[in-house]
Amino acid sequence: MIKRVRSWWKREEKIEPPERSIDNVPEHVAIIMDGNGRWAKRQGLPRIIGHQNGMKAVKRTTIAADKLGIKYLTLYAFSTENWKRPKDEVDFLMRLPQEFLAIELDELVEKNVQVRMMGDREGLPSHTVKAMEEAVRRTETNDGLVLNFALNYGSRKEITDCMRELGRKIEAGALNPEDITPEMLDRHMLSGGLPDPDLIIRTSGEMRVSNFMLWQMAYSEMWFTDIYWPDFNEHYLYEAVAEYSRRTRRYGGLT
Ligand code: IPE
Ligand code: IPE
Ligand code: MG
Repeated sequence: MIKRVRSWWKREEKIEPPERSIDNVPEHVAIIMDGNGRWAKRQGLPRIIGHQNGMKAVKRTTIAADKLGIKYLTLYAFSTENWKRPKDEVDFLMRLPQEFLAIELDELVEKNVQVRMMGDREGLPSHTVKAMEEAVRRTETNDGLVLNFALNYGSRKEITDCMRELGRKIEAGALNPEDITPEMLDRHMLSGGLPDPDLIIRTSGEMRVSNFMLWQMAYSEMWFTDIYWPDFNEHYLYEAVAEYSRRTRRYGGLT
């Protein structure tokens, strides 16, 4: 089990926004939090220590995102392919949400953060779902930063499930195929209700998307860093956001 630590929210309260202000802060930032295992291995530690330290980076990044004025922060915590990992590691990862929320939920409530979960509840252990549902319920009326955990999330599964649902509606005569639009698909995705990510960050030097928000990232800006996730902090987030703010998004048009 993870050693209970005092909430580090208060300890890191001093995180300051960057000195120069950034115009054009992305509304929705999504992060592929990668490199926990390699972070641990580099120090001769077991992989789970990397995951435990990754949780601290989640905390730091949430505070920093809130201070920057980001409205939605999606964190890829566990993919539908991560079940392929050894059982011990998966079991540890499945306990992390409740460990994180046991320490942090009160402060998330107090900080007006709204917790959401994006992923398949089926397949997750009941203790994991219970912890996530409690966090969602206790923060549902908050209207500050939306902290969206992608947990047991895979984009191909999401798109497949969406197709099945629409197929069933067509079969029942409740939907005309001609009425299917990109906006309708948006609403049927697990991210329904969230704007598309403006900025996607991936840590650990991997240049791939690993089944993450394939539909939603059509026009997302990408930012990669070699830093392993447990070392990620507000400075990297500010760097990513500052670079985002200098880019020109054209959506296929001309400026
Ligand atoms: C990211 O770190 C966390 C999850 C995918 C659950 P990894 O566990 O993938 O770490 P590396 O990529 O093996 O270093
Ligand atoms: C992507 O990282 C999934 C999460 C960060 C949760 P992986 O470590 O699973 O991705 P691959 O296997 O390197 O593509
Ligand atoms: Mg990885």
